[in-house]
Amino acid sequence: MVGFDSVGPYLQSPPYFGALIGRYSNRIAAGKFSIGDKQYTLATNNGANHLHGGLVGFDKVIWTAAPITDSIPSLSLSYLSKDGEEGYPGNLQVQVIYSLTDDDGLRIQYEATTDQPTIVNLTNHSYFNLTGDTKQTIRQHLLQLNADGYTPVDKGLIPTGEIRPVAGTPFDFRTATAIGSRMDSVEGGYDHNYVLTNANGSLQKVATLTEPGSGRILEVWTTEPGIQFYSGNFLDGKFVNHTGTPVQLHTALCLETQHFPDSPNKKEFPSTLLEPGKKYVTETIYKISVAK
Ligand code: BGC
Repeated sequence: MVGFDSVGPYLQSPPYFGALIGRYSNRIAAGKFSIGDKQYTLATNNGANHLHGGLVGFDKVIWTAAPITDSIPSLSLSYLSKDGEEGYPGNLQVQVIYSLTDDDGLRIQYEATTDQPTIVNLTNHSYFNLTGDTKQTIRQHLLQLNADGYTPVDKGLIPTGEIRPVAGTPFDFRTATAIGSRMDSVEGGYDHNYVLTNANGSLQKVATLTEPGSGRILEVWTTEPGIQFYSGNFLDGKFVNHTGTPVQLHTALCLETQHFPDSPNKKEFPSTLLEPGKKYVTETIYKISVAK
């Protein structure tokens, strides 16, 4: 995992090390969307677009933390995002519970309710390098993704709306493949939303990342329909890990479970609308093991 050893750097802009992202993970084109005939304008913080909740996203606000005294050690974080925050409509009450599973998983359960129709898409932005040494790149890691399709993007990394089959492209990770084997043929590296096969809202294993040298394995389980595979393309040594190592290009990656980027403007994508009286509920587990 990659992170800082003090709070200060977490308050800067990218790279969102280990962050809880909201209200909307990834991008919304031009920071604009409509619900019914009402148009909303969000803060733009990524060129012309809105990224990861805006200027002060959920990664930079103060959450109320409480331990849950249960048989399983858990931490509850809650936050009331006020109507109008970063341009979003509705008072959004959010609770995120982190707990350990008895098979070496970190379970993250997200819940939210609203008092006005709004949009929600929460994720976790942890970076991984399974060598345990961020001086090494993630090129040798083997990635397997249960995704037959992905959402191609324009120059600003906004999905075009198409769901394109991965077959025969460098985006095909249906069988475990070294990330570096085809990364250079993808401009800038991987930063794409994968459309998870057979996603139906139930908790399923969707990704397996293996580091052959150490035998470490990370499994990702989720109820979400998508996952952003981001190969650390904007890491440039500017941020120094808690180990004192500047985090360089492609030395850590993210597997962010999510609804698809820019869904509020893409009617063909699964909806991210949350209405009063309904509850947003999603779950993701990151599970670690070592090959025998
Ligand atoms: C996005 C990248 C972005 C990064 C921020 C990822 O989720 O897909 O485009 O640069 O977060 O660190």
